[in-house]
Amino acid sequence: MKDTLLIKNIGELVTCSGFTSKKGSEMKELHTSHNVSILIEKGIIKEIINSPQPKVISEKDIEVIDAMGGSVLPGFVDSHTHFIFSGYREEEFYLRFQGTSYMDIMKAGGGIANSVNKTRAASKEELVQLGQKRLDDMLSMGITTLEGKSGYGLDLDTEMCQLEAMKTLNEAHAVDIVSTFLGAHALPKEYSGRKKEYIDFIIHKVLPVVKDRNLAEFCDVFCEKNVFEIEESRYLLEEAKKLGFKLKLHADEIVAIGGTELACDLGAVSADHLLQASDKGIKALANSSTIATLLPCTAFSLKEDYARGREMIDSGCAVALATDFNPGSCFTHSIPLLIALACYNMNLSLEEVITALTINGAAALNREKHIGSIDVNKEADLIILKYPSYKFLLYNLGMNVVSKVIKRGILVKTN
Ligand code: NIG
Ligand code: FE
Repeated sequence: MKDTLLIKNIGELVTCSGFTSKKGSEMKELHTSHNVSILIEKGIIKEIINSPQPKVISEKDIEVIDAMGGSVLPGFVDSHTHFIFSGYREEEFYLRFQGTSYMDIMKAGGGIANSVNKTRAASKEELVQLGQKRLDDMLSMGITTLEGKSGYGLDLDTEMCQLEAMKTLNEAHAVDIVSTFLGAHALPKEYSGRKKEYIDFIIHKVLPVVKDRNLAEFCDVFCEKNVFEIEESRYLLEEAKKLGFKLKLHADEIVAIGGTELACDLGAVSADHLLQASDKGIKALANSSTIATLLPCTAFSLKEDYARGREMIDSGCAVALATDFNPGSCFTHSIPLLIALACYNMNLSLEEVITALTINGAAALNREKHIGSIDVNKEADLIILKYPSYKFLLYNLGMNVVSKVIKRGILVKTN
């Protein structure tokens, strides 16, 4: 493996630029250049060369990839997934499709609890194997970094097992995984009627172990009516913050209870879902550095109204988009579907969607200084499209137009 890589014959290079998240009207500002090459050394972008076939460099000493006139963009950052789980919930999906609500299924003992039973019964090796296949698929769609949450264990051993599986995969797989502890995803049946005790168990018995073993960077809570309410979420997240975790929040997904405001108040890195975020919540987001992470495939799958992404951007928020891939509310990690829904149904421009899936996704994981754009000194996480323009990402509806994926300067996938 040579230390230097040249990507030549780039028909079009498209990226947002810089080392911070993009807010409001900045989100539509993409930089486009034509007929260029990228020089990469030891996985880091060294130079954008203003020629498709630079003569100065001897190709003998370097690895060369010919982009064949294709469009090149930063790799996608999927900043919200629950990709480590065992078992499926196709029967529940079918019931939901016929009109039963997500919360009714949860109240009847299905939903997250169903996946908890199946995940508790799985070994770490099984979770790693399942995760590996899912990562392969995600990589082929251009995802070079993703976030993964625990939350299908809800006991010490299985939560650790999920996080350990992600650690193993992070070391073995080309896709980078950022881990989030989501012990407060639901109340496990053995704690029925004892929610305060469960929260204290997480705070005193689980979070310190996660921290000691360095198994998660973020702590998240499913803050929802009848799941973990505002004050319960605040209590848990404040304790997590004291231990050094960065914060995320499943906020205002089904009922508007003020999770968006809570996330901003606590300085969370992101507030996610936001289908029901209030005007006050949107204002709080716009005035904060919290990223609004929207998950259109979930709204589509649940047949709910979409988050008000257009209004959020117009109000000055930094919006990221992510798949929310999970076995219940959103069993898909399709980037092409996500792009189509965000453009067609949420009225975002394709340029805003690209920003939301790259630099703002990176910012939702606190990695905007290292990934998420094609800038000199950033890690060389790149995708080459089969076509000469980024516009094919939307135009070729529902299709994967990614031809090659480069992770930290190494070609890791050819479709
Ligand atoms: O982000 N809303 C809570 N958590 C997941 C769904 C988990 C599940 O249904 O298994 C979500 O939608
Ligand atoms: Fe989620």
